[in-house]
Amino acid sequence: MSSPAQPNGESAPAAYVLGHSDRELRRLAAQAVLIEPITRGLLLDAGLAPGMRVLDIGTGRGDVAFLASELVGETGAVVGVDRAPEAVAAARSRLETHVPHNVSFEEGDPSELEYGEPFDALIGRYVLQFQPDPAVLLRRLAALLRPGAIVAFHEIDWSNRRSVPPVELWDRLCALVVETVAAGGAETQSGSKVPSVFAAAGLPAPTIRMTTVVGAGANSRDVVGRLAAIVRTLLPSMEERGLVAPGEIDADALEDVLLQEIAATSSFVASTSDLTAWCRV
Ligand SMILES: C[S@@+](CC[C@H](N)C(=O)[O-])C[C@H]1O[C@@H](n2cnc3c(N)ncnc32)[C@H](O)[C@@H]1O
Repeated sequence: MSSPAQPNGESAPAAYVLGHSDRELRRLAAQAVLIEPITRGLLLDAGLAPGMRVLDIGTGRGDVAFLASELVGETGAVVGVDRAPEAVAAARSRLETHVPHNVSFEEGDPSELEYGEPFDALIGRYVLQFQPDPAVLLRRLAALLRPGAIVAFHEIDWSNRRSVPPVELWDRLCALVVETVAAGGAETQSGSKVPSVFAAAGLPAPTIRMTTVVGAGANSRDVVGRLAAIVRTLLPSMEERGLVAPGEIDADALEDVLLQEIAATSSFVASTSDLTAWCRV
């Protein structure tokens, strides 16, 4: 993952390949439901507990921040930060109906904001993958933590994608997503890179787990829906890059067509794996 050097020698952030359209924010919401148990397991295993002050970076529409808020309770506090105003607006719009009232959202670079007090936990989901140098960001953020604080990240990884027996459309779509995401400057093996990123940031070796949500023939609706949704998000970018011809992929029909093909061959299908990693500083 590399991007152009700036005058100060640091890498410039790549444009955010997924964008923040209403449809993309809805995709994040649907995905959040599917992977919530994985993130919840991470936060519990890492030791998030009542009374803690938590910083959630790349908060998007706030799903991880709201989950953390439940775990730290009224006596704790969660700050969710995102550099995209649309994401922060979407997250803030959910505050009114959320209990407990211990969450706030800020817009900006999480390593440059002023927070007043140190944090007991630094967390994030699907955010390291978008950093030109995630270790530099983590090193800066670690300076905001109390001794003994938790660092816990949930990252994605496309290395385990496959279909058995092969479903050509599944394999092609996975390959297209990987190529488009990588061309947009994001890391498609972010989960597997967490240990080396933690090491480069001066953090201890994390405890790490991997979960791959998979599908089996006709019983593949969740993973098919997830893949079809990210293809839809990236389709304009795929067409712009000439990876698919305009109109070649019908995003509206994709989920049903894909599911039919997988069901017809009773295939096993896998796209992304979810890696969760945590340590104490
Ligand atoms: C794929 S979304 C994940 C959102 C949320 N964590 C979730 O799991 O639903 C990644 C989010 O990280 C944000 N982001 C990426 N790099 C960031 C950075 N350096 N600082 C703040 N936000 C960042 C993007 O704007 C985007 O909203």
